[in-house]
Amino acid sequence: MKIGVFDSGLGGLIIFKELIKKFPLHDFVYLGDVKRLPYGSRSDETIFEYTKQAVEYLFEKRNCKLIILACNTASARALRRIQQELLPIRYPDRRVLGVIIPTVEDIVVLSPSVVGVLATSATVRSGVYKTELNKLNKKIKVFEKSAPSLVTLIENDEINFIEPILKNYLSFFLNKKIDTLVLGCTHYPVLKKQIKKIIGNKIKIISQEEIIPRKLKDYLLRHQEIEKEITKNGDRQVLVTEITDAFGKLSKKWLKNNTILEKVVLE
Ligand code: DGL
Repeated sequence: MKIGVFDSGLGGLIIFKELIKKFPLHDFVYLGDVKRLPYGSRSDETIFEYTKQAVEYLFEKRNCKLIILACNTASARALRRIQQELLPIRYPDRRVLGVIIPTVEDIVVLSPSVVGVLATSATVRSGVYKTELNKLNKKIKVFEKSAPSLVTLIENDEINFIEPILKNYLSFFLNKKIDTLVLGCTHYPVLKKQIKKIIGNKIKIISQEEIIPRKLKDYLLRHQEIEKEITKNGDRQVLVTEITDAFGKLSKKWLKNNTILEKVVLE
């Protein structure tokens, strides 16, 4: 059986790339719902519906034992319902994990005072980062800012035009005295250099591709019943609901091999 990695688009490939580095033998399948992104501007019901379809597809058609919702928006708006309503009834022996709790656990260890979160509108609307950070440490101040234009620009490989827009979003944090900035959307690590240039070196940037592979390792160590079901042939598949030029170009660049993109239909 495989490990599935799901994102609304190509952003999750950044986490996927690090996952396959850390687990060279585990069999992985990536699914990007490029055709229906951005998820971040959709309603909770739609995000749940789309994510549920992706999860069902990965379980039923691709034999996944475990799925990581690399997408923060899906983790914020759909994960709990999937864990509570879908898994117990239809897939009791399979697992779906998100990226927000592992990220929050890592942030708290750093003892920050003021945390900024840059994320999609749906993630910010959920307030999940503030809720989860304050569950672990009430004293942390959290400021969340949505950046609705970034995902589309990244998906269209137009990051050359992004700087003024990015500056505008990040200016929200300027007078908040943040010491930590969470890139709360899988797409934003693409902009790490530009973000660093704008906010300077003193603010710690939290980027999930540096966290999730290590957290998965811990999880699999603690859950041998899952680990032993994952086949280990170094198999990688990349599935998309639409093959775009940007996805083709960036997947080739990031995965550094000739991964063939396969188009699939979610319904
Ligand atoms: N990549 C997703 C996230 O991590 C959202 C992008 C989108 O809006 O589709 O939040």
